[in-house]
Amino acid sequence: MAQLWGGRFTKETDAKVFAFNASLPFDKNLFTQDIEGSIAHAVMLEKQGILTLEEKDAIVKGLAGIRKDVEKGILSFDETQEDIHSFVEANLIERIGEAGKKLHTGRSRNDQVALDMRLYTREHVLKTDELLKQLLSVLLGIMEENLDTYMPGFTHLQKAQPVTLAHHLGAYFEMFKRDRLRCRDIYKRMNFCPLGAGALAGTTYPLDRNYTAALLGFEMPTLNSMDSVSDRDYLIEFLAALSTMMMHLSRFCEEIILWNSNEYRFIELDDSYSTGSSIMPQKKNPDIAELIRGKTGRVYGALMALLTTMKGIPLAYNKDMQEDKELSFDAIRTVEDSLELFTGMLVTMKFNKEIMATSAMNGFTNATDAADYLVNKGVPFRDAHGIIGRLVLYCLEKNTGIDALDITELKNFSDKFEPDIYDAISLKTCVEKRLTIGAPGRKMMEETIRINKEYLAEEGIGCRESQ
Ligand code: ARG
Repeated sequence: MAQLWGGRFTKETDAKVFAFNASLPFDKNLFTQDIEGSIAHAVMLEKQGILTLEEKDAIVKGLAGIRKDVEKGILSFDETQEDIHSFVEANLIERIGEAGKKLHTGRSRNDQVALDMRLYTREHVLKTDELLKQLLSVLLGIMEENLDTYMPGFTHLQKAQPVTLAHHLGAYFEMFKRDRLRCRDIYKRMNFCPLGAGALAGTTYPLDRNYTAALLGFEMPTLNSMDSVSDRDYLIEFLAALSTMMMHLSRFCEEIILWNSNEYRFIELDDSYSTGSSIMPQKKNPDIAELIRGKTGRVYGALMALLTTMKGIPLAYNKDMQEDKELSFDAIRTVEDSLELFTGMLVTMKFNKEIMATSAMNGFTNATDAADYLVNKGVPFRDAHGIIGRLVLYCLEKNTGIDALDITELKNFSDKFEPDIYDAISLKTCVEKRLTIGAPGRKMMEETIRINKEYLAEEGIGCRESQ
């Protein structure tokens, strides 16, 4: 057991207490951020005349050496240290001696951890945004190829009206687009630097907080030192955005699982993204889609856990906040893996276009269009609805479709039916005539795709304001 704060104590910490209190087993994830923040702090201390040039150089060199040794595997995280901050500082002192003891001047682990966590989150907001962008470009590619791939559109999981695969996937495109917008918003709101807030009340040293904020790519320093060390809003916002992403992925996975089933056969998952059964040789299971759907729960759980942890915390820093880490690391990794695997699964799956089109033709998906046909011939919509309803019942009894009836049969239901009904309710017409903004008709979808292509060509937050 090694601690930074032994001075005031006369007894060793109980071993179990130490283990319960320690965060190194998980905050080692913040290693690179801790080094980066410490270098910026040291550089600023020297600029302000708080460290000599030699001391600063020794510290920066020492920190870079620690980073290199950990990367090379020469140095491993020594679990006798309480946390990543202690680990880095103790190693630095071991390496460079006296100068190392000055690194923590004007800094507390409270603003240090606030900074590390913010740097980590900011990095992953960008990474998530990039993964979403990749998914969107895969989606748009599939959409472009499937402007004429007809399929049934559903409400209540009942066939409703025909759409195209491009249109159906386009719905997810909009969801993931909003997810990216949320990343951008969070990035903007969180990009303020807490370093220099000290334990809670700033410090008497003449720190240049604007300088460290700029060195670390932040918009500016945070404005209240008590809030700086105890704010985890950005993390809660990110977990909420991640939860929404998982909800979107999970809905999409649910559809993929249905579409891949023997009953639908709309798609076939690639062997490389499926798994087998140990007992049933015929099985090819959509485990990846099921797992993503399943993992949605743990991401929601992280959001709920952090909201609950934060709700009773008096100002300023309290140790409860150490609980922000494991669950966030887990949620962030889960979403990144899910996005990556989902994109791979999507890119490799095959669409059974004929089966989709046949399915779109059956199930009276043209019933609304048949009613609209009568409306165009002067029948009030409510009456037309009733006529087609009776017609559907008749077809169900005969086990046939509206378009399979001959004109004399149709005329028994309404004398407004003419031979042009067949064209009016063909699958192609049903889709192509839907040309309102956002509808599946080819002309409209081409326009939607053009707009979305322009959107994808725009710079993401990765090419960001802060640099
Ligand atoms: N491991 C701590 C955390 O994650 C670091 C901050 C510790 N600060 C303190 N005053 N004990 O929150």
